Amino acid sequence: MTATLGPTALSEPEIQARLDELMDEVKSASQMQVGYPTNQTYEYKGLSSFLDYSINNVGDPFHESNYRSNTHAFEREVIAHFAGLMRIRPEDAWGYVTSGGTEGNMYGPYLARELFPNAMFYFSEETHYSVLKNVRVLNARYIMIKRQDDGEIDYDDLHEMIRVNRDVPAVIMANVGTTMRGAVDNIPRLRDILTDLAVTNSYIHADAALSGMILPFVDDPQPFGFDAGIDSVSVSGHKMIGAPLPCGVVLTKKTARRAGGAGHRVRGSAGHHVVGVAECLHPAFAVASVRPQRRRRIPPAGEKGAGHGGVCGGTVQRTRHPGVAAQEFRHGGVSASRAGGVSEVADGSGGRHHAHHHDAARHA
Ligand SMILES: Cc1ncc(COP(=O)(O)O)c(C=O)c1O
Repeated sequence: MTATLGPTALSEPEIQARLDELMDEVKSASQMQVGYPTNQTYEYKGLSSFLDYSINNVGDPFHESNYRSNTHAFEREVIAHFAGLMRIRPEDAWGYVTSGGTEGNMYGPYLARELFPNAMFYFSEETHYSVLKNVRVLNARYIMIKRQDDGEIDYDDLHEMIRVNRDVPAVIMANVGTTMRGAVDNIPRLRDILTDLAVTNSYIHADAALSGMILPFVDDPQPFGFDAGIDSVSVSGHKMIGAPLPCGVVLTKKTARRAGGAGHRVRGSAGHHVVGVAECLHPAFAVASVRPQRRRRIPPAGEKGAGHGGVCGGTVQRTRHPGVAAQEFRHGGVSASRAGGVSEVADGSGGRHHAHHHDAARHA
């Protein structure tokens, strides 16, 4: 049997050789990802038989789909679980499993724009580029706000910019863990600014791609959830939970979604997924990720660090104590050191790999 992969037809052994080579590259690169916040201590092999089926979570996970081969029931469980983590009652929340933090950062502003078509969007210069990209895709007006030295948004600049635009609704894209500094914008303070300026038509989306799976598991975290005043949140799944394919979760209030014209069942309606077909295996990954895993013990329910907290807690532990991480790398035959915001990992061949660090100081 032959198959085409690239411009020329490849034989079966040639395809296998290409795949073996790729596997070697992936294995080797996976050893060198210090600084990139991806938890790799997972085991999803039990799900591999699902790869034989064309599963598709098209449609609203909370409504029956006419595409029967779906994992909507699992997806609803994932949403309920994340609702608890993000401090909203599951019955008040709506959401879905996304292809990653970026998609959640598209859904939030999309819904905000449906609610307030003439809104001005505000986000700091520290904000992840997915936000700028998505706001531009929506063709929404935006003002980039200065940042403080610690990476938080400059509240005075924000106040002034909203003040001069008081005649239009305000959408603030708040950071809950910036990529380079782990900075968390003070959400109650953002709300206070809106109140102070009597801006009643407003919306706060939290980009919690990075720290959304850290803050629920640390003692005395900065305010980050719906209880602090956010209207929607995007969390990455492949970072702290860990998954073989990028994924994430977006959550919003049911009321906001309904007000945005999305409370009905028509597929593709405003407020529905921003993509047509939808993540189907990830709800199963997420459910499976709360089971004990092969490479490290996950504490059972009730014990400190159980569930996602066990997996994410391990990552937090490593981030809080770079020395521990370096030691783990050394045990694995890789020497690592951390200086400033950059990690240096020396591999056995004498090559050096640089990786920017997520600065965990704010979480410590
Ligand atoms: C702060 C922040 N927001 C958004 C993203 C994008 O998330 P994803 O890679 O899951 O699309 C990242 C990714 O690094 C991030 O650090």
